[in-house]
Amino acid sequence: MRHFLTLRDFTKDEILEMVTLAQKIKAQTKQKEYIPYLERQTLGMIFEKSSTRTRVSFETGIYQLGGIGLFLSSADIQLGRGEPMKDTARVISRMVDMVMIRTFSQEKLNEFASYSKVPVINGLTDEYHPVQLMADYLTMAEWNKAENPVCAYVGDGNNMAHSWLMLASKLGFELRIATPKGYECDEKILKEAMDFAKQSGAKITISNDPKSAVAGADVVTTDTWISMGQESEKEKRIADFTGYMVDETMISLASKDAIFLHCLPAYRGYEVSESIFEKYADVIFDEAENRLHAQKAIMVWLDRHRGDNASKQGR
Ligand code: CP
Ligand code: NVA
Repeated sequence: MRHFLTLRDFTKDEILEMVTLAQKIKAQTKQKEYIPYLERQTLGMIFEKSSTRTRVSFETGIYQLGGIGLFLSSADIQLGRGEPMKDTARVISRMVDMVMIRTFSQEKLNEFASYSKVPVINGLTDEYHPVQLMADYLTMAEWNKAENPVCAYVGDGNNMAHSWLMLASKLGFELRIATPKGYECDEKILKEAMDFAKQSGAKITISNDPKSAVAGADVVTTDTWISMGQESEKEKRIADFTGYMVDETMISLASKDAIFLHCLPAYRGYEVSESIFEKYADVIFDEAENRLHAQKAIMVWLDRHRGDNASKQGR
């Protein structure tokens, strides 16, 4: 049985296999062909943080695949009143076929997975947001940016930056990350990515210079400066991220036909200007829609990789 906790656990071939599956499922969905790959399966969806895209893509996705999603907000389940993660995992995974969790530390997610009888999907932690990157790469492929792209990530060295590090280092493309001083990526994650990059041929550059990161890039991306859970640091962060807004001046340095990606939600006037956001709205909302198709592919892929010993609830 496999879990989907971070892209570090997957090979290049496995990641590309999931992307190809997403393309196939997307084409079928566009033809209103809803193949019940996961008929009668239940996806438990535990949310300890807010969500629009992750919730809607997984809930709609499992329904279109012939199953049903259970939205389990930590405000409503006993987890939120202190029931241990490992007990929650042992209960829920005896009843459902797959679980998606959005939580705080990767450690909590790993603990859940280690006690789960069914595949577990990371729906965002403080460290990683791997399901988002699958949609991002699907979007890059659709916009002809998947072949040896130069990607620039400008902003916080957060869960999105870490996930970009994993994607680039596994697939072997160039990634330049620029963060303000003090907001660099986690050293351990960076080291792992550098090791993967040695094998894949990826070129990874880390700096505190957004302009040189963006120069000539094919894909420019950013994320909020204030992730969920960091609200109390808002004022300091806004001051510290001065010069990191993706605006006309910044984008003018990129390749002429560059695309701009944003995982959303976007905070205009902070990490991106209103006019740049609207200029690239077509690609940004393709990216948002692709959450649905990519998330369906991840669920189908995990279902196909259940080991013989794994419990297949009800089947
Ligand atoms: N990008 C993303 O994960 O959005 P939500 O927080 O709305 O799920
Ligand atoms: N870095 C952001 C991503 C939101 C999808 C956060 O963790 O809040």
